[in-house]
Amino acid sequence: MSATAQSLSALRRAGGLLNARGLSALASRSARAFSSPSAAASAQSSDDSAAPPKIVVFGGRGFVGSNVCHEAFNAGYSVLGLSRAGTPPLASGRWVDGVSWARGNALEPATYTEHLRGAAAVISCVGGFGSAEEQLRTNGAANVALIEAAKVAGVPRFVFISANIPNVPGIEALIGGYIRGKAAAEEALRAHYPGTGVALRPGVIYGDRAVSTNITLQLGLVFKPLEMLLQRLGPETAARMAAVPLVGAAFVPPVSVETVARAAVRAAVDPSVPGGVIDVWELEAAAQRMGAQ
Ligand SMILES: NC(=O)c1ccc[n+]([C@@H]2O[C@H](COP(=O)([O-])OP(=O)(O)OC[C@H]3O[C@@H](n4cnc5c(N)ncnc54)[C@H](OP(=O)(O)O)[C@@H]3O)[C@@H](O)[C@H]2O)c1
Repeated sequence: MSATAQSLSALRRAGGLLNARGLSALASRSARAFSSPSAAASAQSSDDSAAPPKIVVFGGRGFVGSNVCHEAFNAGYSVLGLSRAGTPPLASGRWVDGVSWARGNALEPATYTEHLRGAAAVISCVGGFGSAEEQLRTNGAANVALIEAAKVAGVPRFVFISANIPNVPGIEALIGGYIRGKAAAEEALRAHYPGTGVALRPGVIYGDRAVSTNITLQLGLVFKPLEMLLQRLGPETAARMAAVPLVGAAFVPPVSVETVARAAVRAAVDPSVPGGVIDVWELEAAAQRMGAQ
């Protein structure tokens, strides 16, 4: 049995769930490597009675969250995307119909505890800016509430999209609520999911960002060349350069939204990924290991 098939089996034992749409979508999917249906398909063929594990994605309508839903769906999981509106994102594709969408406000556990039942993992892409108070609430309190609710519901793994905070003097005055919020959420993750909670810390995330039904910002045009340039330095040198005050921020590599999504799904489903932090320097390798399975 492959490592990924074992992961799927373990997660199934933790509690799988599949809706009818998910089942028919799974049956019709074509093969792709890990982040691909092949993992689920091969595991499925060895045990046809088992349903794919359920992954709950908070912030599923957002830029990162919608890509996480897409990635998890393609990998063959039963995916539930939650947001305050409860509607699908501004995106099109078969995966949008294959994912289930529901309403849930992270700050109000009563709106989503039922959706956590039987979930094998939660991935939180909840976060944002605004006033200092809003930053603290959205990045901190909302995620702490999610982590605590998932723990109470018995969800075995939790992945949180945190952030790499650049070494820029005065940044605390600018986005102090964001920084403290991320730290509070990471602390709650350590406390409640010491071995199975994973925080990803990307820097700038680039990719196609839909801002309306017919306008998409192609952020990769700006950031992809910079990412390639910094990759030539190697992760260790780039990390040392990034530690230099002020100019160091320029050496934090941007990362594609697909890489973040792949690393997040892997951290959610692969029991061999230990609890802790995957920082910006390690994201590419974490996502590649997933593709290699
Ligand atoms: N984009 C980047 O460059 C970048 C870089 C580093 C880290 N990150 C982190 O990655 C995560 C996702 O960022 P993003 O760029 O995808 O932002 P985004 O598009 O604004 O998505 C954020 C999501 O958070 C959800 N949300 C906010 N408050 C919520 C609440 N109380 N309950 C439920 N959902 C709530 C929003 O959902 P609804 O409004 O639909 O309910 C939205 O979908 C954030 O934590 C961010 O800090 C992003």
